[in-house]
Amino acid sequence: MTTMSRYLLLGLLVIATVGRADQPQYAAVASAHPLATEAGLEILRQGGNAFDAAVAISAALAVVEPSGSGLGGGGFWLLHRQSDNKEVMIDGREKAPGYANARMYLDEKDEVKPRASLDGPLAGGIPGVPAAIVYIAMNYGRLPLATSLAPAIRYARDGFAITEGLQKAIKGRSDVMSQYPPSAAIFLPDGKVPEAGQVLVQTDLANTLQSIADKGLAGFYYGDMAAKLIQGMQQFGGIWSLQDLEQYSVLERLPQKFTYRDISVVSASPPSSGGIVMAETLKILEHFDLRAMDRITRVHYVVEALRRAYRDRSVYLGDPDFIKVPVDRLLDPDYIEAMAMTISADKATPSDELGENPGPKQSGESTTHFSILDTEGNRVAATLSVNLTMGSGFVIPGTGVLVNNEMDDFSIKSGIPNSYGLVGFEANAIAPGKRPLSSMSPTFVESSDRIGLLGTPGGSRIISMVLLGILDFADGQLPESWVDLPRYHHQYKPDVVLYEPAAFNQQEQQQLKAMGYELRESNRLYGDMHAVMWDKRTGYVYAESDKRGEGAARILKPESKP
Ligand code: DON
Repeated sequence: MTTMSRYLLLGLLVIATVGRADQPQYAAVASAHPLATEAGLEILRQGGNAFDAAVAISAALAVVEPSGSGLGGGGFWLLHRQSDNKEVMIDGREKAPGYANARMYLDEKDEVKPRASLDGPLAGGIPGVPAAIVYIAMNYGRLPLATSLAPAIRYARDGFAITEGLQKAIKGRSDVMSQYPPSAAIFLPDGKVPEAGQVLVQTDLANTLQSIADKGLAGFYYGDMAAKLIQGMQQFGGIWSLQDLEQYSVLERLPQKFTYRDISVVSASPPSSGGIVMAETLKILEHFDLRAMDRITRVHYVVEALRRAYRDRSVYLGDPDFIKVPVDRLLDPDYIEAMAMTISADKATPSDELGENPGPKQSGESTTHFSILDTEGNRVAATLSVNLTMGSGFVIPGTGVLVNNEMDDFSIKSGIPNSYGLVGFEANAIAPGKRPLSSMSPTFVESSDRIGLLGTPGGSRIISMVLLGILDFADGQLPESWVDLPRYHHQYKPDVVLYEPAAFNQQEQQQLKAMGYELRESNRLYGDMHAVMWDKRTGYVYAESDKRGEGAARILKPESKP
């Protein structure tokens, strides 16, 4: 054998064993529930692409993880279609109903009515998940909608075992759900919080999913189903109208794209604040050499950059269909440089020195994220939500649809913090048909040799969690590290660094305090990140689920296709 032919043979062997570098060797799915991940794999095995799998997973999560997302909620689906490199964000965010108004959660004295934007039918925006799954199936999928919805319908009809996480979520919201018989009938059988392991059957929800499978958009937003939804809402004091449902539509938006050093980032654009806040933060950080710093100095710069970007979030960001979001100004290199220069090398900048603003509050979490890569290189990163755990706690009678409480993501009153402690002003005030500002940040990161997909729930902390993941990707780490990282967070107001116990040891805490930081240890771990990575050099694929949650990450080998 000549040397030449020996090299040729070796080359062929390498290709045969590690796959072609321009294509992922395997498909990969990571989501917050093993049955949702399984639904995605089932659809991929049937010849579906990543977009069909996204439809299947979104619908399955509505059934098996109702605490986090569902047909009564909304979300953002970030898509990359490999054949033409199209990158788009499907905006299925809820919209304020037509009868909403800026003062709807205030009393005569202009005080915020406690919990009015959080519990019951009045807390819900017009849902976007049903419209989004129909849209994605029709415009990007390959399989019929009914095929992709089949696993979810099966889970709803036959039932599934309640996880510990769902049991806790139901328990946490049982006071509200017990006030609404249609909610209690499903989630509090015999008036009690169910045990983990108990089987939950959701027949009404199966029928609603079937109606969408049969009739598409019309199976939820028009005709009999719409009448049922509106009647049920109004019966319990809600203000949705038939017109609100008819007028709901998803939008294709350009994602927020930017670079951080030699990495390109594609993330959620307004009405999510995620992409812009991350862009601002990372552009400020480009002015410093993070790699040359010890860990705590690095934390200091990350926190200071976050503080500045979250300040701008509170003032400037909102639904771009209603307000002018000054993206160019916020990302202008001179503005970024000016902000970078205000960071002291060894001292925290008190948030109040950046401009006026009030304070705190933190709360529980739900919402869900999944990431999918298929063997063609198509990818989906999607973050969906009903806002707080179990949304508004209200199920619309006869439909199984648990209504979100996403109205609380609006600025209910100028300068008054919402349930994530986030403050907002005019830009995010309530108006009919407007989408509330979100932090959900499904994200793609790409370097010359690797592509990552990531995202997580966590309210206002979503942005800093994804940002830490991006920095870890930039350091060459794998998804296991991105999802496991001990997390810390700063959001301008309250002016504290929130951190998981493992993030800082005693000595590091002392160092941060000496720089002027107020530290607040999180009383629990937070986030539930689900990430996928494709190594373009080898074609190898990684999938990883956050150990803080109950999710499952799987690789699907092509030979296991039927
Ligand atoms: O859109 C948002 O930013 C929030 N509704 C997300 C809520 C969330 O992540 C809940 N988990 N903490």
